[in-house]
Order: sequence, then C-alpha cells, then structure tokens
Amino acid sequence: MAAGEVRPWPVFMLAFVGCLLCIVNVIILTGVDVKGKISKIVLPKEVKKAFPYFDPPNLVDDIDLPDELDQHPIVALTRDQLKKFDRYKRAQPKSFAQVVEKYRLKYGRHPPPNFDEWYKFAKKRKCVNFDDFDQIMDDLRPYWGMKPADIRAMVKAMDTDQSRVSILKVRGQKVAQTSRPDAWRASVFERMLAVAAPLLPDLDIAMNYLDEPRVVAPWEEVQAKLAQEKKTRVQHPETVNEFSKIDWDAPIDIKNLDLGFFDHSGKPYMDLASKACPPESYARRPELDIKHVESKYKDPVGGFIRNFNLSSDLCTIGPHLANLHGFLFSSSTTIATQKLVPIFGECKVNVNNDILFPANKYYDLADPRYIYNDEQDVAWHEKTPKMVWRGVTSGGVQNQEIYHRLQRHRFVALTNSSKLSGTEVTIMEAVSEDNTSGEYTPTFFHPAHYADSTMDVGFSAIVWCVPDCHFLDDKLSAKPSLEFKETFKFKYLADIDGHSFSGRWYAFLKSRSMGIKSTIFREWHDQRLFEWVHFAPMDNRFDDLYALMTYFTGVEKGVGGKDGAYVPRHDTEAKRIADRSREWAMQVLRTEDIEIYMLRLLLEYARVVDDNRDKIGYSGDGSEVDSADNNRLGWRYRL
Ligand SMILES: *[C@@H]1O[C@H](CO)[C@@H](O)[C@H](O)[C@H]1NC(C)=O
Ligand SMILES: *[C@@H]1O[C@H](CO)[C@@H](O)[C@H](O)[C@H]1NC(C)=O
Ligand SMILES: *[C@@H]1O[C@H](CO)[C@@H](O)[C@H](O)[C@H]1NC(C)=O
Repeated sequence: MAAGEVRPWPVFMLAFVGCLLCIVNVIILTGVDVKGKISKIVLPKEVKKAFPYFDPPNLVDDIDLPDELDQHPIVALTRDQLKKFDRYKRAQPKSFAQVVEKYRLKYGRHPPPNFDEWYKFAKKRKCVNFDDFDQIMDDLRPYWGMKPADIRAMVKAMDTDQSRVSILKVRGQKVAQTSRPDAWRASVFERMLAVAAPLLPDLDIAMNYLDEPRVVAPWEEVQAKLAQEKKTRVQHPETVNEFSKIDWDAPIDIKNLDLGFFDHSGKPYMDLASKACPPESYARRPELDIKHVESKYKDPVGGFIRNFNLSSDLCTIGPHLANLHGFLFSSSTTIATQKLVPIFGECKVNVNNDILFPANKYYDLADPRYIYNDEQDVAWHEKTPKMVWRGVTSGGVQNQEIYHRLQRHRFVALTNSSKLSGTEVTIMEAVSEDNTSGEYTPTFFHPAHYADSTMDVGFSAIVWCVPDCHFLDDKLSAKPSLEFKETFKFKYLADIDGHSFSGRWYAFLKSRSMGIKSTIFREWHDQRLFEWVHFAPMDNRFDDLYALMTYFTGVEKGVGGKDGAYVPRHDTEAKRIADRSREWAMQVLRTEDIEIYMLRLLLEYARVVDDNRDKIGYSGDGSEVDSADNNRLGWRYRL
C-alpha cells in the first residue's frame, strides 16, 4: 500500500472503540444522574428601568440551569437562585460613573470623601462587584441619626476594661497605638487597618474582642434613628472631597455617658432580641404555629430552605430556635447593651446593630486550621461521597440538663446511626423507579443505615463541660480527629455554628467539595453568596438534613424506606455547586476583597463621625476617573 493511503476498516474500528470507551466512561462517572439542560435567561425589566444607563452585555454566557423536567423541589429552588445570581452579576456597574450614579440613586447622598481613590484601589485589586456594599450602609445608617460628636464620645467612653473592646487608632495616615493590643483579634485588625490608613483621616475604632455580638437596640429606637437618617439625606453642590481635621485626642467630658453594658451570659437571648424586632413580627407573637412561620422561608413540600436570609431571622424563627441554639440560651460571654453604641464586630445575629467587618480568621493567612490549600485538595471524582464534620463541643455552656439542645450536639446525635434505630424522617422519593426526571413525593425513611454509610460526623474532642465531661461518657465518644486537609477528601462538608460563626467557611467554599451550611449568624459577605448556587442551605433545626443529603447522594431501592424508597442521585448538581462556589469565592472572597470592603467601610465610618459630614464627599460624575482609565487601557493596547 502506498504511503498516505488510508485503510478505512482499522480506523473505523479504532474510532468505534474510542467512542464506546468514552460513553462507558461518562456513564461510570455520572452514574444515573439527572442530566442538565441549557436554557436562556432574559434581563429583568426592573434592572433596566432602575438604572437606565445599564447596558446589558450580549447573552453569550447563558446560565446552565438544572432540568425542569426533574420535579424535585431543590431543582426549582436552584433554578430560581441561579437566575437571581445571574441578575446580581449583570447589575454590577461597569465604570466609575455607573458606580457613582448607582450610589446616589440607592443612598441619596454623595459617596464619601476619597471614593474615587477607593474605586481605583478596588479596580487595581480586580474587584468584580462594585455594587455590593449595602451591608455597610445598613450597619451605619442609624448613626446618621446621631450627632457626630456624640458618636465620637461613645467611642472614647468605651476605652475601659469593662467594655471588652480594643480601641484602634489612625493618626497621620498610619496605625497608631492600640489599647488592649493583647486581644488576639486586634493584631489582625491592625494589619487590615494599615492597608486603608493612607486614605483615612484620624480615627478611633472600637472593636469587639469577644466571640459574641454586643449591641441589640430596641426596634423603636433604631426606627427613629433611621427616620432621622432619611430626613437628612442631601447632595450639597459645594461638597468637598476631603475629611475635616478632628482632634480625637482632645479631652472631652464622658463622665456621665452610660453605655449600658450588662452581662447576659447564659440567659435567654430572645428576651433582648424580641424587643429589637418589629411589633407585628413572630418574635413578639411566639404563640404562632411553627407551620405558619415555616411557610415564610421553607418550600412547602420538602421543607427545604427557600430563603436562607429568613431562615436565620430571629424576628421570624427566633421563638422556635430559642431552645435549640447555644447562643440563644446558654452563651458563654454575652456582654450586651441595648444602646446604639458603635462597635465593630465580626459577626452578629440579624437583630444586632454591631458594625460588621471581615473576620480576622479570613485575613490571617498563617493559620492552617482555616486556610484552604489547593495542593491538599483532590478532584471531585476522587472524593468519598459522604458528608464529613469534625469539631469540638463548643456552642454554649454544656451541663447535664441542657447539653443535648446545643446545635453541635443535636447534629452529632442526629447522624449517629446507633441512636437512630427507631427514628423516622421524611425525604422526597421518586414516584416511579424508571423515571429519573419525573415526580417526587414525601415518604418516611429510616435513616440509620444511610447515616452509617454516608455520614462521617463526630466530635474530635469532648471538652468544656460543667462541672466536667463525665456525664457524657456513655452518650458520646470522640471520633478520630481529622487534619483540616483530610476533610477535603469528602464531597460534602457540613458547617455548624460554634460559640459564634464558623471560620472554616471560606476554605469550604474555595475547595472542590460542596458546603452545607446552617447558621444563625450574619457576616459581611452574606449578600454575595447565594444559597443553592454556592452552597446547600440547611435549617438550623436540621429537620431537612436527610431529605437534603438523599437528593445529592441518591438512595438505592430497598435502603431505609418503608417499601424501599428510591431517590435518583444528583451528583452532577452537587459538583456544580462545588465548582461555582470555588470559582466565585476566588473572585469575591479574596484577601483583596476584604481590603476593598474594609476601606469602603472605614471611609463611610470616618464620614459619619465627621462634624461636616453633610458637606464632604465625592461630588463628581466619575468621568475623570473613567477617562484616565480608558487612556491607560489605550496605551496598553497600543504597546
Ligand atoms: C416522567 O414522568 C412524568 C410524569 O408522568 C412525564 O411527564 C415525563 O415525561 C416522564 N419523563 C421521562 C423521562 O420518561
Ligand atoms: C453514638 O451513640 C452511642 C449510643 O448513645 C454512643 O455510645 C456513641 O458513643 C455515639 N457515637 C459517637 C461517635 O458519638
Ligand atoms: C436579608 O433581609 C433583610 C430584610 O429584608 C435585608 O435588609 C438584607 O439585606 C437581607 N440580607 C441579605 C444577605 O440578603
């Protein structure tokens, strides 16, 4: 045969075998998964209307929605949230002019002084969401209802041991001496502050060094302050783009200033929280039936969370969580105040008025217990298809009477197969076994066997009991602890509150595994994370745990169900959540994003404590920054 001539038969053979291998591979990898489907989404009208300049990009990057033919409630929830997330991304401003215009539309004021510098700072750090800072405005708005000098006096008055805060200072655009610098959170805060300091005026900041949040002002008082804030919104024509000179070290009379701190450790938190809720809310009408409350935030069929925000809203669900979360009935250190006192804190519950800042654990890149290391992670298909959780017995004071109501103890008990022999839970099973993309119906399920084969959950240490932990000897045993890197060998990573929020969350989001989150705490980043898109939300009562897990892992016929429940596997959906959270976290939960948030927060804080706050700010239209930007870009392209 001459060179170059093709012998068709062997080539076809090879191609055929190749295809076959390919198909077999795909089947092995994806199992009996429900297939995804691509469909189009159109830009919502309200975004265009609210921001007429908004120029939607071509719809080339269509979002990948799970198949609607699959009627599992989680599919519909995922589709809704994916559309929301897509809208969020499309509504982000694309230039400084748009950032400024949107700012004024939303908040009714000029942006604070040095806002143009903040934009350049953020742009340099490759910010992708220039309009996601509502949390800062929500936290600081009540202080627009007070005189700047009064706010500063409160900060001064907090400089005592009883207040349990560190006072951090900026002087001459540098970080100055911190009071109580030994508090471990202060040193990391100092490092974050140092990055922002060159753009800040002199400033004192009171930072909570306890784990638990501090400020829980009554609803009526906060509303009065918010109404005041609204009345004072102005956009003066003669606004100047610089802060005033304030002498924070000048002596002022704070003798009669009562900040109202009191010790509420171990006492029912809802006593304080309900006063911070609207009069018509469930928190003030605890007689309301749980079903009624659930309908506000859960899907009616499977009990899955439809609104993660509301699932931790104490004004809604508070009375039903009051005895189920350590912070709400047995917190170890709650030094609270019902006065509006400007304290910066890492986390809070929805009724608190603490001013949120990004947690130190997320910025302190030296602590291997919390930091994600890509080299220690493995690909999805190499991971064990189980849920993993390890932690210590924290989350509230543990004694014989109440320990079993603490969230971590409840979670560990609920996944301990030897405790589950008589237990029945409700899950969603497929109506017919051969129709994987069809209907589902609620059914009872005996989870003992499933828990044993699918959940690797337990305490790594049993500590901090009162008077000691012997009363737990016959009820609990510690499981072998896992190094942090070992957790990434599992597909499903559960995250449960301890004394306060969980510091592992960023590592979970950045990993190739899927996070499952339940919490009552709020953090700075909440608005940029979407339930069902970036993680699977779980009710703080864990009543949805098995329905949730069986959706992802699937259940083979004959396991646990009365007549053998069958649930098709949604492994691909789980992987998609893991992939999306990883990709997104690498864009919006970086060290850079923390610095961007901190600088903007501190600019806003510095303005609200400035005596001239109505006449300082950035009053331009943003064009000078954009055209400088465009020129620079032009140069780059020409080179
Ligand atoms: C599954 O069943 C539903 C309802 O009976 C039907 O509409 C759907 O077409 C079926 N799907 C498949 C893949 O057979
Ligand atoms: C599970 O429950 C049994 C029975 O209460 C108990 O003996 C065991 O220590 C528990 N296991 C773990 C890991 O806590
Ligand atoms: C949660 O809901 C409240 C009240 O509607 C809202 O102000 C807040 O921005 C929401 N938070 C998030 C993270 O969506």
